[in-house]
Order: sequence, then structure tokens, then C-alpha cells
Amino acid sequence: MYIGIDLGTSGVKILLLSGDNKVVKTVTKGYDLLIPKPEWTEQNPLDWYNQTIVGLKEIIKGYEKDLKAISFSGQMHGMVLLDKNDKVIRNALLWNDQRTIKEVEYLNEVIGKERLIKETGNIALTGLTAPKVLWVKNNEEENYKRIDKVMLPKDYLIYRLSGIFASDTSDTSGTLYYDVENKKYSKYMLDVLGLKENNFPKIFESYEVVGYLTEEVKVQLGVKNDVKIVAGGGDQAVGAVGVGAVYNGMCNISLGTSGVVFSPMEKFASDQKTYLQSYVHSNGKYMMMGVMLNAAGALKWWNEGIFNNYNYENIFDKISKTSSDDDLFFLPYLTGERAPINDPYARGAFVGLRLEHKKEHLDRAVVEGITFNLKAIFEIIKTKNKDLKNVRITGGGAKSPIWGQMIADILNTSVETILVEEGPALGAAILAMVADGKYETVEDACNEIIEVKHIFKPNSKEVLIYEKKYNEYMKVYPKLNNW
Ligand code: XUL
Repeated sequence: MYIGIDLGTSGVKILLLSGDNKVVKTVTKGYDLLIPKPEWTEQNPLDWYNQTIVGLKEIIKGYEKDLKAISFSGQMHGMVLLDKNDKVIRNALLWNDQRTIKEVEYLNEVIGKERLIKETGNIALTGLTAPKVLWVKNNEEENYKRIDKVMLPKDYLIYRLSGIFASDTSDTSGTLYYDVENKKYSKYMLDVLGLKENNFPKIFESYEVVGYLTEEVKVQLGVKNDVKIVAGGGDQAVGAVGVGAVYNGMCNISLGTSGVVFSPMEKFASDQKTYLQSYVHSNGKYMMMGVMLNAAGALKWWNEGIFNNYNYENIFDKISKTSSDDDLFFLPYLTGERAPINDPYARGAFVGLRLEHKKEHLDRAVVEGITFNLKAIFEIIKTKNKDLKNVRITGGGAKSPIWGQMIADILNTSVETILVEEGPALGAAILAMVADGKYETVEDACNEIIEVKHIFKPNSKEVLIYEKKYNEYMKVYPKLNNW
């Protein structure tokens, strides 16, 4: 038996995978998201740990003797600080906390983007860990002085469960104090933070064993055997493992509230003009991803927020009765946008409304607008990953066959869905299996465990319409931006 722990923002999902690759059960335990001020987001690491233990006890019951290894997927970029007695110094600042605007300006303008890219492969964004450490340095002197250990959210679980101060290459890629291409800490960036390498965890690959469950936790869980603790990784990389996106020519588009276009890469590539993130993948190679903030979230806003009647099936049914050959456009930038425009001040818009338009035409424009933005990211990734041909869609939005077909037509490529979707928790359990020696590589495990459900092939007539329409769409934001 193998366990995958997905430490998310709303709760921790724990998945039990049998030795013959069956998902035996999953449990989810929630915790609070603290918002001490607008745009600030925090969580208490002790809540993460306590709820993980509650969930582990529940899921292990009856399988205590069979448990072999545990691994992790974690919300990325968060900052956990411990003092020399291993006491949590303050609540963790999370990936979506926006308090670091000044620190990001300092990093990008004073240190300079060029230097940051040379040191880490990426530029500063408000969510990343380094600006958070600088914020504590600039605003909480007493807390800063007490810092003994800086770690990412899932690393706190690793530390409490195994006693080992460890992290992995994929999650540490999102800190901005790690040289992603060369897989080592950036001495320069640690100096910028005023800290030393021994304040940071030892780095493993996602599929490597870092240690074993401590005796104390074994007693708590009623486990007698040694249980391996495996590094795991950041949620995007581990989620990609959970859907089998581990080969160079692949691309996973996850359609959650936000939309992520994720592409595994054989070699490191960076393209900072378009605000993509270049990190290590959980198979030990590299990846590039672009995150758009409002994907299925924009569709939900349209139906629930505006019309108060969110009905997923119904909207796609109506869209299928309208024509794609219509120059009505929607920009999904309801909360600004990260990729590909990186404009926190961008806003949503309908452009091209005519008297004959009905709600279903606007429904179509919303879904197309989201998909065009995904295509914009996809096209940038294609310039860096020439082998890209196999696209997979996952997440809540992938449930509609009409959207699946539209994605195939707009991207002009075949698009697959998969059979069992358990996302990052399954990815983490797969990493545990690989570390335990059940499979030699992450790729081997995915080949056997992940099955394709359906393939959408592009329809040549729609492809032509959408090609023209996409070119028009790409002119809308720059025009509105200059009014
Ligand atoms: C990735 C990112 C999110 C968080 C939260 O850059 O910000 O995926 O990891 O889940």
C-alpha cells in the first residue's frame, strides 16, 4: 500500500493506492484559510500537520501492516519559518498572498530581472517564496532574527513525519532562491535574503526516499513496519504525474478555477518575456508552465455570479447550437492575469456585441475567450518545445465533451481525457511507488497506471474558422489596453 498526501489550500487530500494500482480510498480534511488583511493569505502549519494525522489514522485503519511508502504534493511557494527549537515562528504566507509588491519591485528592478534569470531561471512574482522572506526581513525584525529553518508547506509535513529537513527539486524551483537549471541553491539569492544554506532543506528528487516515519508517529498511527518518506513535489508537477504528463512531447491543460498549460521538457528552457514559469519536473527533468487565473472560474462567474443558475451541462448544450463563425469576443481577465500578459490591472470584457446576440452567444464567447487564452500560452510553449503534439485535458472543465472538442479545434491538435482523475494525490502515491522500487522510473509507472479515456480530433472546418478568429482575438487586449 502507498499513500499520496496532497496538501492543498482548502484541505489535505490523502489517497491510498494498492500494490496493484487501485485507488482503495481517499479522505479529505479541511482547515482554515486566514485573511488577516485584504490580499494577505496565511495558514497555520500546525493545522496542516494535525489534519494530516487525523486523515492518515482514518485511511490506514485495517492496512497498518501493508503500508510501504508515503509521498507528497504541496501547494507551492508558501513560506514556513521555524526557530532553533523547531517552533513555528509565524503563520505561513501562502502562494496567493499579494503583500510582497514592494519586495518584488526591489527584486525585479534593483537586483534586476536579468540577474534573477541568471541566478534562478525565473523573475520575481508576488507569490514566490524569496519575496516573502524579504517581507519578513523588512517588516518583522523580531521574527526574522529567530529564523533557523525556511521550508515549503509540504516540507513541514516531511519534517514532522520523518524528522528530516528535506525538500525536492520541483517545489524548490518555485522559491526564487534556487538555480533551477543546475539544481542547486543560488548563493547570491541566499545572500540577498541574508541567510545561509544551512537554513534551507537538503534537496532530493521527487521520487527519492528522504527517511522513514519516526517511531513516535508510528505509534500514533498503529504502524509497526518501517515506512519510507518520499520527497514528493510541488502540486503542478505532481499533478502532472497523476495524469501521466511526463514525456517531452506532452502537454497537460488543467481546467480548474485557474487554467494551467503544463509541458514536460527534456532540457531546461526559460522565456521570461511571456511570464511562464520554468521549473524542475517531478520525474527529475524539466517543465514549463503558464498559469491563467480565470479559466473555469470565469465560466462559473458568468453562470453563478451573473445569472445565478450555474448549470454546466445546459450551457454547453446551448453553445453547441450556436455557430463559431461570429466575431464576438470575451476577455477572461476578471482578476488581472498572470500568463501570458502578466497584467494585474487587466480586466474582463465582451467586445463585438450586436442586437441579435442572445445569452447562448455570450456563453460561447466566454468559453472561447478562456480557450483562446490557453492557446496563447500553448503557442508560446510550442516555440520552446518543438516536439509538442500530445495534449491532455484534466480538471473540472474537462468533463464537457463540447469543450473538449472546442479545445481540439482551437489548438488544432488531438486532445485526450483520462479515465481515473485523482490529480496530485495520485501523482504523490505514484512517486511513493517509484521510490519503493515498484517501478524503475516515474514514466514507467505512469505508462501502466494512467489510461486514456477519449480522444478528440480537430475538425478541419472549425480549425479554419478558429484560426482566423484567434488572430482577431489576439488584437483585442492590446487595443483595449491603450484606450
Ligand atoms: C503554481 C501555483 C499554484 C499553487 C497552489 O505556481 O501558484 O499551483 O501551488 O496550488
